[in-house]
Amino acid sequence: MKRRQTIAAIDLGSTKVAVIVGDIDEQGDTRILGVGVAPASGLTRGVIDNIQSARDSVATAVEKAEQSCGMRILSAMVGISGGHLHSQNNRGIIAIPDRTRPISEDDRARVLESAGQISIPTNRQILHVIPRGYWVEGTEPVSDPVGMYGGRLDAETHIVTGAVSAVQNLTKCIEGAGVQVDEIVAEPIGAAECVLTEQERQQGVAVVDIGGSTTSMAVYDEGSIAHTACLPIAGSHMTHDLARVLRCPWESAETLKCQHGRAFSTSEIEHETVEVDAFGTQQRKSVKLGYVSEILQARVEEILEMIALELKRVGYADRIAAGLVLTGGASQITGLAEVAESRLGMPVRQARPASHSGMSDLIGSPSYATSIGLVSHGLNDRTPAPEANGMHFDVPASGLFKRLASIGRSLMPQ
Ligand SMILES: Nc1ncnc2c1ncn2[C@@H]1O[C@H](COP(=O)(O)OP(=O)(O)OP(=O)(O)O)[C@@H](O)[C@H]1O
Ligand SMILES: [Mg+2]
Repeated sequence: MKRRQTIAAIDLGSTKVAVIVGDIDEQGDTRILGVGVAPASGLTRGVIDNIQSARDSVATAVEKAEQSCGMRILSAMVGISGGHLHSQNNRGIIAIPDRTRPISEDDRARVLESAGQISIPTNRQILHVIPRGYWVEGTEPVSDPVGMYGGRLDAETHIVTGAVSAVQNLTKCIEGAGVQVDEIVAEPIGAAECVLTEQERQQGVAVVDIGGSTTSMAVYDEGSIAHTACLPIAGSHMTHDLARVLRCPWESAETLKCQHGRAFSTSEIEHETVEVDAFGTQQRKSVKLGYVSEILQARVEEILEMIALELKRVGYADRIAAGLVLTGGASQITGLAEVAESRLGMPVRQARPASHSGMSDLIGSPSYATSIGLVSHGLNDRTPAPEANGMHFDVPASGLFKRLASIGRSLMPQ
């Protein structure tokens, strides 16, 4: 097994496309080498509905990332989200015919294969089969069965599936932008990789990425992933509510939300007013911040309610001692963690990506947790990397890329 040296990740979000290039430095830490961001188009609720527009957004972000790192991106890890993502946990059991020999790596592979088999409709495909735990002779769980003795080996896996058409459209769109898809990764797995601590994963936690039009979540328990889901509601619904109730243009509602939005009102700001652009003869009007908070609070509570229902439905509401870790652009709304703690009755913290060398302020924002997590996921991937590891990137010797290569040489370690 070898670790990949340099990874590019593409997060095709509903508001922005982020392309991040990273590697592992001599100390074994993730280092960010380049970033490209472009406004997203052609997506509805996290799913591509116009391949041409989405492809153009991806191509723009890829080009910016290439210029920023001085390498050509040939292939990338690609995040996927949307309500079509489903997950389930599945058990597999195998017999070990010769009890006198220790359980081998082949046995482990066999039991994982068995635990990865589920029947799904032809319009769905498996995206991830992640080992959750092993049991030898069906008794106490063991972290690794290889080398132990027993006549029976059980394994449980977490399986994430997605709609074939959504995966195909995403793949076509990325390939159309000139990049091969290394692996498609459910976005909440990327977010978890970026913001969760090992202790939170052990004691039970849900990472919740509240983005532009989707809220994706992954639940971890006893160190392994237990549930993945994607809810079709997020930050743009808050903006929509403000624009509709205040009868103002979308852009001014968006600015109002980001600059003054709160998940609940307080007596200090209740009567404070701000000016916003408006439709009609007035062009500008003043609105009370207390009223703005009231509008936002209704939507925030709806999102929290949906998260709570999802946790309850899968039986984790009372099992996640570390509660919720919120990230994603819309998690930045002031006071969200406080409202979430009081409504859900569990600990809640807001998280931004951990700092890595080479990181700019831009990607330190919670909006980039998933894309940075996709890079970490790729870098930490224990599966064998393709032989030509360096072929994820190409540094052609002529034209634009000759220039980029020379930039690259000054950025890359010799
Ligand atoms: N300071 C802020 N306060 C409140 N909301 C904010 C703030 N900054 C950004 N947002 C909101 O965050 C959302 C975008 O978040 P993010 O970049 O994580 O989404 P995305 O990845 O493009 O979308 P998705 O994950 O749904 O596909 C937008 O709705 C934006 O209005
Ligand atoms: Mg996102």
